[in-house]
Amino acid sequence: MSTDFIVFGAPAIEQDEIDEVVRCLESGWIGSGPRVAQFEAEFASYKQYPFAAAVSSCTAAMHLSVVAAGLAEGDEVITTPMTFCATVNAIIHAGATPVLADIDPVTMNIDPAEIEARITPRTKAVLPVHFAGRSCDMDAITEIAARHQLTIIEDCAHAIETEFHGRKAGTFGDFGCFSFYATKNVTTGEGGMVLTRNEADQARIRMLALHGMTKDAWKRFSDEGYKHYFVVETGFKCNMMDLQAALGIHQLRRVEANWKRREEIWNQYNEAFAELPVRLPADPEPDTRHAYHLYTLLIDEETCGISRDQFLETMTAHNIGVGVHYLSIPEHPVYQEKFGWQPTDYPNAMRIGRQTVSLPLSAKLSDEEVLRVIETVRTVLSTESKGRRTDGLRARSRVQHANACLST
Ligand SMILES: Cc1ncc(COP(=O)(O)O)c(C=O)c1O
Repeated sequence: MSTDFIVFGAPAIEQDEIDEVVRCLESGWIGSGPRVAQFEAEFASYKQYPFAAAVSSCTAAMHLSVVAAGLAEGDEVITTPMTFCATVNAIIHAGATPVLADIDPVTMNIDPAEIEARITPRTKAVLPVHFAGRSCDMDAITEIAARHQLTIIEDCAHAIETEFHGRKAGTFGDFGCFSFYATKNVTTGEGGMVLTRNEADQARIRMLALHGMTKDAWKRFSDEGYKHYFVVETGFKCNMMDLQAALGIHQLRRVEANWKRREEIWNQYNEAFAELPVRLPADPEPDTRHAYHLYTLLIDEETCGISRDQFLETMTAHNIGVGVHYLSIPEHPVYQEKFGWQPTDYPNAMRIGRQTVSLPLSAKLSDEEVLRVIETVRTVLSTESKGRRTDGLRARSRVQHANACLST
């Protein structure tokens, strides 16, 4: 069995993407252009939603959405502490104030009751994250938003294929923000998309993403001849390039095949880890579709006999790339300093953030690699928990014992 390093979240890139990138390079038009327009149209069609605007990242998608929603200084946006820093940073950069609402410990998604508890007269928006690809409770969230007249901006970085009660993630609110970062279910290397409820918002996002220049300014160097443009807003620079869209067009064509492969791996992991002393991800809810973006184990040192960080180290030592999604937002010094947030204020997110480990779940994984991940996790955890029950060795030496078992 090969023991090459298994890269966490390695993208499944095929020849079609490579050929399209080469054609794009040879076409002489690598910036925003026809391939971006095609990718937007095909993404909108996949989501069965009319309006999509491609941008440079999900971070940009959320930043521009908060700006386009008209939020200003002093306006509060409620979001989750179990997310990537980009979610919170986007709110801050748009000039609004993030407010955290703790998660449900089973789904790991923002808890609607916690949202309700954090609403003040300054609350203007809610920004749920469909964590790991599992939809938030959008019935409850849309009901709260309607009652309090809140804009909904969905962070769908994990949720390209996600559905909730027959509706697709990113179409519940005013703005649905997607990521095509290297590890995501569809990748353009870096990239993002905003789904908008109406054409005016789509146009505004496009304009904000290109310096605030008037519509179609990207065509100014096209074969239609030089076109003057006017700057009508102080915008940003976060348009998507055709080079990126060249990847995305073909990635999107395999989105369902890749989803099926990840579902298969997810089910293999569930079966293989059922008897281990770890918590597995909650099963998808009925009448929903999980995007199977992250497969997370919770490592409780008490029951596993190994700390989460020791588990990370051991997996890496055995050439298996793992991730942490995420240390809760209040663990980071900058937010403690800015907002006075403390991890203990959001106990569910804190505990999960300190115990969680994401295993490789890319469609690129071979059967052999999946078996290697399974074998390594089982050996580390069964050795560890057995060690804990029988001999009470200190955690560090138990890790060494697990390493010895694996290297034989
Ligand atoms: C939940 C979540 N939100 C936002 C982002 C930011 O996405 P991007 O890297 O496309 O800006 C990520 C990326 O990892 C993410 O996981």
